[in-house]
Amino acid sequence: MPFYHKLGEIPRVKHTTFYKPDGKSLYREEMVSSKGFSGVYTTKYHHHLPTKVLRVTELTNLTKNVDWPDAPVVYYHCFTDKKKSKGNFINSRNVFLKNSHCSIATAHVTEDTDDFYRNSYGSEYVLIHHGKGVFKSDLGEIQFDEGDQFIIPRAMTHQFKFDDYSANNKMMIVESDTSFEIPRHYISEYGQLDEIAPYSERDFKIPENLETHDESGEFRIIVKMGHRFFEHIVPHHPYGVVGWDGYLYPFAFNIRDYHPKVGRIHLPPPVHLAFRTQHFILCNFVPRPFDFYPGAIPVPYFHSNIDSDEVLYYFDGDFLSRTGVVEGSITLHPGGMPHGPQPGRTEASLSVRETKEYAVMVDTYEPLKVTSNVKETLDEEYSKSWLSGD
Ligand SMILES: [Fe+2]
Repeated sequence: MPFYHKLGEIPRVKHTTFYKPDGKSLYREEMVSSKGFSGVYTTKYHHHLPTKVLRVTELTNLTKNVDWPDAPVVYYHCFTDKKKSKGNFINSRNVFLKNSHCSIATAHVTEDTDDFYRNSYGSEYVLIHHGKGVFKSDLGEIQFDEGDQFIIPRAMTHQFKFDDYSANNKMMIVESDTSFEIPRHYISEYGQLDEIAPYSERDFKIPENLETHDESGEFRIIVKMGHRFFEHIVPHHPYGVVGWDGYLYPFAFNIRDYHPKVGRIHLPPPVHLAFRTQHFILCNFVPRPFDFYPGAIPVPYFHSNIDSDEVLYYFDGDFLSRTGVVEGSITLHPGGMPHGPQPGRTEASLSVRETKEYAVMVDTYEPLKVTSNVKETLDEEYSKSWLSGD
């Protein structure tokens, strides 16, 4: 997505014959395009027809009903690490928040799998909270480490392979029904990342090391379509691509590489923007010096975001404006309700010159529903924690 990329062997001209080494049989061209044929796209060349599916079976055991229908509308804080999941990178996900356009989940990945995963209706943001390994796809591999934030466009067949499944591997996943995009104002009219962007092209990890598997057999792809999961058994290895080029591909950007902006007085969250979709924005809060005007208050003023719910996922460091939050916490402040620092936090911030927090913020334009996973991991005192102040 950030820029043009090419791996492997491709024909010089698109939509022309591209023969295998035998000189007789053709590689099969597939164009993967967004927004009809008007958005970014990638053209890939397969050993075999990409449309061959031997069997399709719905998997009902992956469709977990986690609604909390009578949840009160209050300020929420929950500890996602209290709901430790088990399983592989596909089936270990616990959804905490969701609306009709997105969901926010965490996953403790304890097992490897030979299964492949394809989210056919949604794009995914995956934050590697803990663990390292390699991301594999039919477009190539990306080595990953803690803090990497993957953007995986919809319909990309892939796997996360962690190095050590006895380690505390954890992912945070935001699923979106529209694509994650680099904000338009970060891109010059010529398509290059502008100097005001919080990252540059060299900060992105892009697919490398294209391994082509020309193997026959039975391979299992877990396909997610909305809230339903299917098992697709295909007769050829899903990574049978010999070459591709284009703009539509998975990539990663480490939250520790985000270049923050600092203001003379407090700057609101849009200056921390990382990615956006049509229905929410995603920001990176990272360590930075605080505001430098005399008397400036570093922590936020109280505010009501009347058009968005505000979610914070706490990744690492000290969280100056919140009492009781820890790494792995999620807070949700529903739109239309004022929120701000807890009692004492404003005063405590006055002598502080820098923040060491790492957090991801998701501001959704449609209200979020909390799930039973929030109920199970709830900080019961959080919504009352402002009562002691004045
Ligand atoms: Fe806020």
